[in-house]
Amino acid sequence: MTHAFDKEYWEHHWDDRTSRTVAANPYLVQETAGSMPGTALDAGCGAGAEAIWLAEQGWRVTGADISAAALDTAAKQARSAGVDVTWIEADLTTWNPTDRWDLVTTHYAHPSIPQLDFYRHIAQWVAPGGSLLIVGHLHDRGHHHSHDGEPPHEATVTATDITALFDASSWRIDTALERSRTVGGTGVHSKTLRDAVVRVTRRN
Ligand SMILES: C[S@@+](CC[C@H](N)C(=O)[O-])C[C@H]1O[C@@H](n2cnc3c(N)ncnc32)[C@H](O)[C@@H]1O
Repeated sequence: MTHAFDKEYWEHHWDDRTSRTVAANPYLVQETAGSMPGTALDAGCGAGAEAIWLAEQGWRVTGADISAAALDTAAKQARSAGVDVTWIEADLTTWNPTDRWDLVTTHYAHPSIPQLDFYRHIAQWVAPGGSLLIVGHLHDRGHHHSHDGEPPHEATVTATDITALFDASSWRIDTALERSRTVGGTGVHSKTLRDAVVRVTRRN
C-alpha cells in the first residue's frame, strides 16, 4: 500500500478535485427503485451526489465522510439542488452512532482498515428490516498491483467476499452482482469501472 487512506490523504484528494460527480451511482438508483423512502446514511459520501439524489427521492439523509473538504462541496451542491441533508464529519471506522437507518449505503469508500472490516462495521447501523447497499471496486483476480487510475488492490472485493459477511439467520441477500460499466463518454476519456454490488436486508 502506498497511502494510508487516512484523513490527511482524503482531505488532499478532495482539495485537489476539479471535477466532481453529479450523477448518482447507477447501482444505487437501480437497487432503491421501488423502495419506500425512509432514513438513509451514505457512508463515505464524498461530494454528495448519492446523498443528494436520495434526498431528492424523499429519503431523510445523513451523509458522513472523514473529509471536511468533501462535505463542504457536498453541502454547497445540496443547497444548489434545494435539498436538506445532514452532513457529518466522522471517521467511520471508529464512529459509534446511536441512530439506525432504513438504508445504509456506501460507494467506493475505502478507509485505512481492511475493506471487509469496514463493511462489517457499517452493517451494525442498519435498522431491523432495513438494507445495506455496498458498491465496491471489483477485485481483479489476475492483478496484485494497481496501476495509475486503477483502484488500490487492498480496496478491491468480490461479491462473494461481501456476502460471506452476512449470516443467513440475520440477513437476506437481495443482490450480489459483479458488473462492468463505461463512464466518461467515448474515446480517450472513457474508463471501464468494474464493480461488486451487494444489497442485503436485516431480518426483523
Ligand atoms: C473514492 S471516494 C468515494 C466517494 C463517493 N462515495 C463516490 O462514490 O463518489 C471514498 C470516500 O470515502 C471517504 N472515506 C475514506 N475513509 C473514510 C473514513 N474512515 N470515514 C469516513 N469516510 C471515509 C473519503 O473521504 C471519500 O470521500
